[in-house]
Amino acid sequence: MATISSGIFPVICIDRNTGIPLHRQVYTGFREAILRGELGPGQKVPSSRALAAELEISRFPILDAYAQLHAEGYLESRVGAGTFVSAALTNLPTNNTAPVEESEGARRVSQGSARFPRYHAAPWRNGWGAFSVHQPAFDQFPFETWSKLVAHHSRAPRAHGMRNIDPLGLMPLRDAICSYLRTARAVHCDSSQIMVVSGSQQALDITARVLLDRKDSAWIEEPCYPLARSILLGYGCRIVPVPVDQEGLDVNAGIKRARNARAAFVTPSHHYPLGVTMSAPRRLQLLDWARKASAWIVEDDYDSEFRFESMPIPSLQGFDSAARVIYIGTFSKVLFPSLRLGYIVIPPDLVDHFTAVRYAMDIFPSYLFQEVLTDFMGAGHFARHIRRMRALYKTRRTALVESLHSEFGDLLEIHGAKAGMHLSITLPDDYRDVEIAMRAAKENLWLWPLSPCWSGIHPRQGFILGFGNIAEEKMQSAVRHLRRILAL
Ligand SMILES: Cc1ncc(COP(=O)(O)O)c(C=O)c1O
Repeated sequence: MATISSGIFPVICIDRNTGIPLHRQVYTGFREAILRGELGPGQKVPSSRALAAELEISRFPILDAYAQLHAEGYLESRVGAGTFVSAALTNLPTNNTAPVEESEGARRVSQGSARFPRYHAAPWRNGWGAFSVHQPAFDQFPFETWSKLVAHHSRAPRAHGMRNIDPLGLMPLRDAICSYLRTARAVHCDSSQIMVVSGSQQALDITARVLLDRKDSAWIEEPCYPLARSILLGYGCRIVPVPVDQEGLDVNAGIKRARNARAAFVTPSHHYPLGVTMSAPRRLQLLDWARKASAWIVEDDYDSEFRFESMPIPSLQGFDSAARVIYIGTFSKVLFPSLRLGYIVIPPDLVDHFTAVRYAMDIFPSYLFQEVLTDFMGAGHFARHIRRMRALYKTRRTALVESLHSEFGDLLEIHGAKAGMHLSITLPDDYRDVEIAMRAAKENLWLWPLSPCWSGIHPRQGFILGFGNIAEEKMQSAVRHLRRILAL
């Protein structure tokens, strides 16, 4: 078992006035920390010398307490390595998996926080490989180049980066993002409008805080990206699901349902999850509505770099002459999601409002990877990586579509295979996608159910299938596995 040697001391409280011997207090402190899961099996405990210094007592009571904990099997020693919580104590609760009953405190959280949909650790979110969604081809990432840049910037950080930086982010990175967006996405912007954020999720959050008040109506796509909906629900907005058809969001339907909505949240380049591209007439109609209703359009352009059968579609923001569009993008798909870097292109007159909200939220983005990414983009590695990944994902996409056709024939409907790192399949209505996904996860097949993407009462059943992180030669057997699970 891996040993944990964090050098962090457990919380042991010593009270010299209680009359309880010190060795007993140390013993009880450790025993309870272990039983509560605050110290886990295999975790290194501090040396008696270090703990004595920390608690400002002599070493003897600590040696006595450790001897007792050894005798009872709570601690074990490894020659030359130190003293550890016994690795055999595996059935103890861990810090965060013990079932918790709702306490009086939990019942008294704010109405605001209670409005956010509860977080469920769905097993498919942690999967690796077929058919995990939002996973790029990790093994194809140019780690050598990246790690050299990380090492360089860690060794010689620029002095200004070690202090506070701008709430909008590092200027050279904003310049690089700006020129990329102008050229590759036809976004109208200059660097003063770009804010660097920790992924599009933070971008959506800041945007909602700036634009919306409680009870405001906001259009969302039906089906939609569930975490965009969570933000709106969390802030007490009235969500208005607007159907998506073959041309994208049905603007007439939105106007019928809520003409005076404050905002529309859309994924026009590649609808999430069904993959439709919004047609030019619909884009113009949406912009026209926003202008007349003084509403905002939030364009989530999360994976537009990967189109397989045509040139990338220009952004909706690029059509906008009335500064009604907030454009959001991310490096999660093109690089990797744990980087947590994305950006917002803010209409010029709103930059101060966005900056104020960001400053109050987390002051400014973390520095190191902004420097690394600036150089990665400046030296051409970013553009090269996108080109390579576009070709790779095209091959993987084709392998998946062909395998689905050969295994299922016409039994499944495939949606949105022209772009991105995932496609969707829909199933007959009597299938239960969430239950099937639970079963599949036990066999290490990661199926993301489609029905949670619907906000209304008639969800479709099916799955979002990611193909970014599965080698072409493994596709057929993964699809066979899917067929066995579905028993089709
Ligand atoms: C449509 C859409 N929007 C936003 C996000 C959030 O991505 P991130 O916060 O990693 O940039 C995702 C994640 O995969 C997504 O699919």
